Amino acid sequence: MKKYLAILLALCLCLSMAACGSSAASSAAPASEAAASEAAPAEAAASEAAPADGALTTVNAGKLTISTSPDFPPFEFTDDSGAVVGIEPEIMELICQKIGLELDIQAMDFDGALLAAEQGKVDAVVSGVTVTEERKLVMDFADSYTTITQAIVSKEGSGITMENLGDYTIGVQRGTTGHIYTEEDFGEKVVAYDTYSMVFQALNNGQVDCIVMDDAVAKSYLETNPGLEMGTTTYEPENYAFGFFKGNEALVTAVNGALQELIADGTVQSILDKYMSE
Ligand code: ARG
Repeated sequence: MKKYLAILLALCLCLSMAACGSSAASSAAPASEAAASEAAPAEAAASEAAPADGALTTVNAGKLTISTSPDFPPFEFTDDSGAVVGIEPEIMELICQKIGLELDIQAMDFDGALLAAEQGKVDAVVSGVTVTEERKLVMDFADSYTTITQAIVSKEGSGITMENLGDYTIGVQRGTTGHIYTEEDFGEKVVAYDTYSMVFQALNNGQVDCIVMDDAVAKSYLETNPGLEMGTTTYEPENYAFGFFKGNEALVTAVNGALQELIADGTVQSILDKYMSE
């Protein structure tokens, strides 16, 4: 009996060490994350992703409250009725059905949406958020589900490329990776706005010469803003994931479990395809 206990204990230790070693990386396996939780590691390791009804603690009981900046088609935007729709609300809705929560979407500017999740005013920010080392310090990320790169948007024939970008005024959305990277490289040449509609207005009015932003979203804006073109940057590819208020491991584990099912059965890809080809 003692021997079995010792083996069990050693096993638990291994599991929790493995969980710690994997850091908060988006690829961490849900099961080993659960094993890292304080109480009864053996039990937690054995339980599946989806907990019993009502087991999840959220900001508003029974709901998954998320913040988003709906100026980001096709990931999130408002339809004619003013409802927030797009790739991420659609994925989130399906996840909520699986884990037994009601989706509550709160629209705000992007930097406010990040802050709301950091401060626990919402459960998660779902807003085309790129996973970065800095953000991992202040929020927990679910598994990543798609990848983008930064693009340069400018007026047709402007001749603006990554090589001469520093000679021009660059418009960005405040708090985005596009903002952070260009400010690092080009400092005072960068002008930040709260929303992408403001950034595009600035480009169309000639207040900035170009925009640095996520390519999939730039493509969408190009369709509704004639006379603009898009070029590539040399910035690293970026992974999108939902960012959670730090410390709600059970919720992140449940969301990851549901998300992995939706990835495995092809649902996520078909939602991406549906909006990207529109
Ligand atoms: N992926 C970029 C980032 O995380 C931009 C996200 C902007 N999202 C939005 N909904 N406006 O910084």
